[in-house]
Amino acid sequence: MTTPKSFPEELLKTLAQYHQAHLVHWWEELDERQQDELTSQIQLIDFAQIQRLYSPTHPQKTEESPAQKAERATHPATVIRLQDRAQSAPETAQAVQAGNQLLAEGKVGAILVAGGQGSRLGFEHPKGMYPVGPVKQTSLFQILVEQLIARSRNAGKPICYFIMTSDATHAETVTYFNEHQNFGLQAEQLYFFKQGTMPAVDEQTGEILLEEKHRIAVSPDGHGGMLAALKKSGLFEVMQAKGIEYLYYHQVDNPTAIVCDPEFLGYHLQRAAEVSVKVVSKRSPDEKMGIVCDVDQKTQIIEYSDLPDHIAELTDKDGNLLHWAGSTAIHIFNRAFLEQIANDDGLLPFHQAYKKVPFIDSTGDQVSPDEPNAIKFERFIFDVLPVAETVLVYEIDRLREFNPLKNADGPDSPQTVNAALCRIHGQWLTACGVEIAEGTPVEISPLIALDESELKTRISPDDQFTAPIYLGE
Ligand code: UTP
Repeated sequence: MTTPKSFPEELLKTLAQYHQAHLVHWWEELDERQQDELTSQIQLIDFAQIQRLYSPTHPQKTEESPAQKAERATHPATVIRLQDRAQSAPETAQAVQAGNQLLAEGKVGAILVAGGQGSRLGFEHPKGMYPVGPVKQTSLFQILVEQLIARSRNAGKPICYFIMTSDATHAETVTYFNEHQNFGLQAEQLYFFKQGTMPAVDEQTGEILLEEKHRIAVSPDGHGGMLAALKKSGLFEVMQAKGIEYLYYHQVDNPTAIVCDPEFLGYHLQRAAEVSVKVVSKRSPDEKMGIVCDVDQKTQIIEYSDLPDHIAELTDKDGNLLHWAGSTAIHIFNRAFLEQIANDDGLLPFHQAYKKVPFIDSTGDQVSPDEPNAIKFERFIFDVLPVAETVLVYEIDRLREFNPLKNADGPDSPQTVNAALCRIHGQWLTACGVEIAEGTPVEISPLIALDESELKTRISPDDQFTAPIYLGE
């Protein structure tokens, strides 16, 4: 290859040193704009880090694999199960009060991660824009924002929403919010911040892949990229200045998550946890959920793909699954704890995922592989758990709170989410004395009611509704 004239000499040396000089192979064919784009992408890459992460022949043998660790997994130390809460009504009432007080004091913020590519759903826009509302086709974003607005109203204090986007979702998400006046959320309460990217490398060679001759194949760096992104965007300082000490964290794909749930906040406080995680009881040993367990006295999440079958199938003396606690990826984090981890970049490891990534081959042709050909590197936010002194593992009713949208059809699809919303809202109406036929489409905006007891204050059993039922402002 001839030395490209205007490609920075120092950078070329770096590329050569890390066996990545192929990235500028097409340099002379590129126009100036494309050359600039490629140069700035290359400047952002930490080549030493990529080399460290890609280690096909030397998979850090000294380190124990997650599957080996799983052999020592035990029950988590600090757990509150559904029946515990039901049996200790006074404690639960105190927790609700304590959570509401935190909200009223303005000590709580909410983080929504919405930077994923949503590849399984196959929707052509950011997943948060997906119309899940059974009657008004309300989007995931709108349902979640309206919950936050309603919770702020009840608390009498604005709650800030920190929404993480990525290159894949940022521009469209921000435009969508602008076009809808943020769904009623005050601009001062809304912060977008963008996560970073990581290049994809060829599984066989470790070479970084070109998606086009002037563009590197990159993807969002995982929800764990949130820590670096919060730090870089200065949002920890913003949180501090606003007196935010607790962060309710959730994912964009679950419209039935209870945003800033006061009871969860209260129990987090009462148990003096640094991190809390909402879990559901796994339906079967092979259900594809990360499990929450203790290994060497550290509470952590083991991904389902790392959990050997014989461990997943273990039962206790009553025949119940030993590792029943499936993570819903709903958390509370102490802000100071997250900040401490964000300041130590080495604490969150990168995970490798084998994926199909289209690329430009050595002859300049674009290849769309049928089989996984590349490694993507991602960080997971749940890797902060073992760093915490105390992690509260808090069981919830999955029918009420965990109905994620992941797939185009089958489980966790638009059909199941739609049915869940109709079921939950139908149950609220029934509890209010309203008779509705089974299968009636029902949608209740969070601005009308966040739960059954709030709905009771808004409607009377004599109210007449015609199907489909929509209750909104
Ligand atoms: P998933 O792991 O389910 O990924 O993300 P996804 O992008 O939604 O869907 P697939 O796997 O491509 O089909 C769980 C949550 O984490 C966010 C997603 O937006 C979703 O809210 N996420 C994921 C990020 O914010 N950034 C990432 O890099 C990855």
